Amino acid sequence: MRYSVLAVALAVASLGVAHAGEGMWVPQQLPEIAGPLKKAGLKLDAKQLANLTGDPMGAVVSLGGCTASFVSPKGLVVTNHHCAYGAIQLNSTPERNLMKDGFNAAQPGDEVSAGPNARIYALDSIRDVTADVQAAIAAAPDALGRTKALDTIEKKLVADCEAEAGFRCRLYSFAGGNTYRLFRNLEIQDVRLVYAPPGSVGNYGGEVDNWMWPRHTGDFSFYRAYVGKDGKPAAYSTDNVPYQPKQWLKVADDALRDGDFVMVAGYPGRTSRYALAQEFDNTVAWSYPTIGGHYKKLVALVEAEGAKNPDIAVKYANTVRGWQNTMKNYDGQLEGFARIGAAERKHADEKAVLAWLQQQGDKGRAALDAHARLLALDAQATATRDRDLVFGQLRSTGAIGAAAQLYRLSIERAKPDAEREQGYQQRDMPTFEGGMRQMERRYVPAMDRELQAYWLREYIKLPASQRVEAVDKWLGGNDEKAITRALDKLAKTALGNTDMRLGLMKADRAAFESSKDPAIQFAVAIMPTVLKLEEEGKARAGDALLARPAFLQAISDYKKSKGQFVYPDANSSLRITFGKVTGYTKTDGSKQASFTRLEEVAAKATGTAPFDAPKAQLEAIAAKRYGGLADRKLGTVPVNFLSDLDITGGNSGSPVLDAEGKLVGLAFDGNWESVSSNWVFDPTMTRMISVDQRYMRWIMQEVYPAPQVLAELGVPAKD
Ligand code: ARG
Repeated sequence: MRYSVLAVALAVASLGVAHAGEGMWVPQQLPEIAGPLKKAGLKLDAKQLANLTGDPMGAVVSLGGCTASFVSPKGLVVTNHHCAYGAIQLNSTPERNLMKDGFNAAQPGDEVSAGPNARIYALDSIRDVTADVQAAIAAAPDALGRTKALDTIEKKLVADCEAEAGFRCRLYSFAGGNTYRLFRNLEIQDVRLVYAPPGSVGNYGGEVDNWMWPRHTGDFSFYRAYVGKDGKPAAYSTDNVPYQPKQWLKVADDALRDGDFVMVAGYPGRTSRYALAQEFDNTVAWSYPTIGGHYKKLVALVEAEGAKNPDIAVKYANTVRGWQNTMKNYDGQLEGFARIGAAERKHADEKAVLAWLQQQGDKGRAALDAHARLLALDAQATATRDRDLVFGQLRSTGAIGAAAQLYRLSIERAKPDAEREQGYQQRDMPTFEGGMRQMERRYVPAMDRELQAYWLREYIKLPASQRVEAVDKWLGGNDEKAITRALDKLAKTALGNTDMRLGLMKADRAAFESSKDPAIQFAVAIMPTVLKLEEEGKARAGDALLARPAFLQAISDYKKSKGQFVYPDANSSLRITFGKVTGYTKTDGSKQASFTRLEEVAAKATGTAPFDAPKAQLEAIAAKRYGGLADRKLGTVPVNFLSDLDITGGNSGSPVLDAEGKLVGLAFDGNWESVSSNWVFDPTMTRMISVDQRYMRWIMQEVYPAPQVLAELGVPAKD
């Protein structure tokens, strides 16, 4: 084994890792990247990393959308402040606003629930199920049949995998369906908030600095994992006890410096590096400007109401932040695409692959056909994209959204569990109920009315060819009057009431169909259309199930023939990326140092949000109270740092590890120039932004003290 591992590693090394930092490697590729890892400076044996439940990889966990890690034997978990923001928001009111003031549980009894849907997923095993899944797909008679065959085998694999209570399983498709892997995770369901710095630290710079460098954000928070007394996962209960993980990260004792090796293990959500040029074009021309444009208007709408009504400001804080983050990211991507000539590169790359396939005569035919099929599928989706966006938003917002979900549940519940739509199976009921419950912390009828009005106004702008008959009929007109009438009607819904929503989880289909509730009546009216469109989408997906892997395999073969390395697009599954601490030069020629410093926090402070650094912090900085955490070379405490690693959304909260696998910081953002790398990787300017562990400790020593957390981390406050 040693030999072949080495041979592959050497082969990759001799290709030369073209761009330092590029690559979201799946753990199965560790033998391939062992050489490059070592060359880059890893001191651990790469084999040790391959043990995904060992030290240190076993400490890395998913929060579902963010990454985190165990940092104590008593289930303490560290992640980003912005990853815990939803939990912080759920526990906030205008009177006791934890988003603004922070939270510190002096003892475990003070910790608060992170919400009914907060989860910690600790990896247990990964199984390659490609053969089974591909055989099931191949045996299906047609496109729709293929989607259904995949769905059926997915549910079967997941059900078998979840036979033992406490585990959650998920099937991941890699490279468009060239590989399928089943992940089994321990699913911790009782997650509590332990510590969050005040917003003026955890979100210092706010939206102004989001996606920007230089940066000075203390983007970290702590959770604790709880389980039942028997050590098994259990829903929130005051009887639960802290979970004792087998692995937890140790805080680095060596100072991190420019040029040092760093690596990240985490759960990046999605990249599109192997997408078609046409899909790229549509994203640039339509998706980003259109969706980004809607979010900008929605943000303005909620901010205007929030300024008048603090209840709205608190209840929609998390929602607004998501919109802001996405819309700014899209703007950054569009700017980046222009900077790096992404369109030209996408088209040239695709042309080269197609030409290479053509040269191969009959051998290349299947992949060329697959490419043509994908173009046709994309054109089909494009034809109805405005309708799909507007109708989709309209039926998933607020009270209407709850009605549509509850009515759908009544339809699905009438079927045997294995035949229910995903999201409506028995295994989904805890989070379904959690969603219905936490709506009361994220919904205000007056605001919901305005959001409905927004999407209805967008709806009546749709061309005749993209209208939904059921909505037209329900609206009974195409003007502002019809919209007002509809909104007045909808205002009478009882779905704003939590008990009502929870009760409807048990109601049968007939009860919905005879309901007088206007939101439910809307849901009932549109459901046949929803189901029909869903079926059409599944047929298209069934075509892509054959075409996408065929074309992506061709891209991969082409790249390998050119001596380039290949890793699959991000898909929310565990990835490893590595490189070094390094600054960069902006387009204006300004050189960016790899670390920001404490004094810059003070220099940036204006006293007004988002630059309202706390008084205690400004005093400590003025007094040079570094608490033993200053870097000798820097002469002060480092705040945030840059490295050339390859991450994307979902990696937030990922532990940054040094050459020995010790915790040096948390990834929390990418710079403005990096976001276009989601489609076309740019090695020169793509940088990951992390918060330095020394800054985290400094905040917990000098600014918003948490001596008990520091002691638990094994780094007690110095005096
Ligand atoms: N851009 C970061 C991400 O997508 C989120 C940073 C949160 N901070 C903020 N000011 N919104 O992971």
